[in-house]
Parts: sequence; C-alpha cells; structure tokens
Amino acid sequence: MTPKSLQLKVLDLVPFGQTGTKHYFFALRLENPNWEEWQPGQFVMLRPASFGLEIPWGRPLGICHLTHQHLICFFQVLGRGTERLAQLKTGDYVQVVGPLGQGFVMEEATPTLLLAGGMGIVPFVGYVNRHSQPWNLSMLFGHRAPIDCYPVDSINERITLDSLQETVPGDLDNLIFSLQERIHDCAEQHGLVLACGPLPFLKTVQRFALQFQARTQLSLENRMACGVGACLGCVTKTTPNWQDQKLANNYVQVCTHGPVFWAEQIIL
Ligand SMILES: Cc1cc2nc3c(=O)[nH]c(=O)nc-3n(C[C@H](O)[C@H](O)[C@H](O)COP(=O)(O)OP(=O)(O)OC[C@H]3O[C@@H](n4cnc5c(N)ncnc54)[C@H](O)[C@@H]3O)c2cc1C
Ligand code: FES
Repeated sequence: MTPKSLQLKVLDLVPFGQTGTKHYFFALRLENPNWEEWQPGQFVMLRPASFGLEIPWGRPLGICHLTHQHLICFFQVLGRGTERLAQLKTGDYVQVVGPLGQGFVMEEATPTLLLAGGMGIVPFVGYVNRHSQPWNLSMLFGHRAPIDCYPVDSINERITLDSLQETVPGDLDNLIFSLQERIHDCAEQHGLVLACGPLPFLKTVQRFALQFQARTQLSLENRMACGVGACLGCVTKTTPNWQDQKLANNYVQVCTHGPVFWAEQIIL
C-alpha cells in the first residue's frame, strides 16, 4: 500500500529491562494507523514534535507488531533522536510515515529459520504472531543485553526461541558456530532463512547462506534520512543477480528496495 503520513497518539511507553539506573529499551505503543495492509520487515519513520528544528529527519524503526488496538515499535536508545523518543508521554502525538519498504516473504508451509541479532528481533515479533503455521518456524537470537531487555514474550508463547547472550568474547564464536550449523540444516531441508541484525551479524549470515546455498533474506539497518528513496543516503550495492539488469552492479536505496533483500543480490 502507498505509505501515509499520520499524526498518531501515544498510548504508552513501557521501559524494558534495566541497565544500571537508566532504561535503554522501550516499547512504544501508538494508536492503530488503520493501514489496509502491512508486512513484517516493513518500517516506519517516526518524528515527534520534540525533534523541533534540531533534528530535521524522522528516525526509522521496524514495525514490531500491529493489531486492531495498536501499532507497537520497540527501540533502543542510542543517540539524540531515540533519547527524545524515550521522553514521549501518553497523549503526545508523533508523526508516523509508513508502512515503508519491502518486508520479509512468508511461506507458511516452508521450514523457516529466523535469525536475530540484538534489535533485529523487532520485525520477528510481528512475523511470528502473524504466521499461521508456527510449528514451521525456529529461531536463534544472539544478544548482548539481558534477555528481559527485548520483546520476546509473545515469540516464546508461539515458538521455541533459542537465545545466546554474548557476555565474554568466546560467546561470539559459539554464536557463529550455531549460525553455521542452523543455516546448513535449513538448507538441507530446502527451508527459508530470514535474518535481521547489525552489519557484522548479517555478513556472517550471508557468508554461510551463500556457502550452503540457503534461500535467505537479510534486513538491513542502514542509516536513513528521508525514508522514501529521495535523498540517496541509505544505498547498498547490488550484485549481477539483481532482478532488474539496469540496476545490477549498481546502488539501490535500502529504504524503498529493501530493507529486506535476497542475500545473493547485495554486497554488504
Ligand atoms: C529499516 C530500519 C529499521 C530499524 N528498526 C529499528 C528498531 O526497530 N528498533 C531500534 O532500536 N532501532 C532500529 N533501527 C535503528 C534506528 O533507526 C537507529 O538506532 C536510530 O535512527 C538512531 O537515531 P538516534 O538519533 O538516536 O542516533 P544518532 O544520534 O543519529 O546516532 C547515535 C549513534 O547510533 C548510531 N546509529 C544511528 N543509526 C544507526 C543505525 N541505523 N544502525 C546502527 N547504528 C546507528 C550512530 O552511528 C551513532 O553512533 C532501524 C533502522 C532501520 C534503517
Ligand atoms: S533514506 Fe533517503 S533514499 Fe533512503
């Protein structure tokens, strides 16, 4: 559907987990935007009035979940934009542009492996909740903060979530080994792999996906400004496998052609 720009009321902002005395993880619940359709993996650009003149662009956040009651985004405070989002109060209004970009494919009867790194868990909340055959889903989640900082409850209710917390350097080796094993097994079953997370995580997934010829989609989190394909601030390079030969070996906007891409079609 064509993206819409709306002012949506904040229903509540719920902190998750605790790191020291400050909260860094929040679920932001907004009123339902009444979109006719959306796909997990799509995102919104959020801009509260408090951005003022200092922060001209909205900030991209994945759609965590959307129901008749509400639109939920989940975010980690990193810089000045997310700091201001963390100060929102019930009843405030936020400009929301969405749904934006291309989401993940959903093949209900195909064994599907979900791979999330850190905040890459966000689109899989909606994915798992919308999937009509959750017994075909399995999930591996690598994270650094304690598990209660992440929105895992509704995922745990529907599927088995295997999580690996990285606390010492050796944990990263375990995660990479598990990724290799799980992607290999999924390829053997002619399954589908879907991954979302930081760049090093996606590069590792892409390497194994290509090695084992696993059908794989990757969701990128490039920095964005306009979110609608106009500023060219978010581009990524395509391979000769890109579907439109005019754009093969070229640059495409992550915000409109992605953020979800087939692993063999982009260079990370
Ligand atoms: C399609 C998409 C979906 C996203 N979904 C989510 C989500 O669901 N939840 C969530 O918490 N975050 C998500 N992000 C990342 C989020 O947009 C950034 O964390 C946010 O824009 C940072 O804004 P800021 O003003 O707080 O930080 P800034 O002040 O702009 O930057 C602070 C620090 O964060 C780093 N940073 C900024 N943007 C990113 C980024 N995209 N990736 C990694 N580091 C970044 C900067 O390099 C800098 O070190 C998503 C990004 C994209 C592109
Ligand atoms: S953010 Fe402007 S083109 Fe993608």
